Amino acid sequence: MFRLIVNRFFTPQSLRTVRSITPTYFRPIHVTSGLRHGEYEWQDPKSEDEVVNITYVDKDGKKTKVRGKVGDNALYLAHRYGIEMEGACEASLACTTCHVYVHPEYCDKLPESEEKEDDLLDMAPFLKENSRLGCQIVLTKELDGIELTLPKATRNFYVDGHKPQPH
Ligand code: FES
Repeated sequence: MFRLIVNRFFTPQSLRTVRSITPTYFRPIHVTSGLRHGEYEWQDPKSEDEVVNITYVDKDGKKTKVRGKVGDNALYLAHRYGIEMEGACEASLACTTCHVYVHPEYCDKLPESEEKEDDLLDMAPFLKENSRLGCQIVLTKELDGIELTLPKATRNFYVDGHKPQPH
């Protein structure tokens, strides 16, 4: 792309002139390709510093301890470890199938929920004071030890009933 722009707007002669005047302008630009939804969560922590331990409790009370990392999305991390958190709308705030109860000790450590999340939660079955949408929880060091419990049932408001597959 960069080469295309250069070729389009500069003749070889003017290019030499511009290069001699502003050599730093032509430094190569490195762009890392973006990860698709959930791909980041399939990467293991690179050091202990970024480990964030999280426990998922399923609707039958079975606990699964997971070594997550800073920046992991609780929904996609759950998918990696086969936890039954559906996430039908793939974190686009349209379904409530990622509804979880946050252990009370950690509620204040999460950023305040946005209006759209609150509006959706208002429609979720089995709503509690510590309800949040798992797809809006991004792990930080402060959340180390967090426990997320899945409700008895969730409701899918996402129109086409799409069920995502783990990537
Ligand atoms: Fe749909 Fe979270 S995955 S609201």
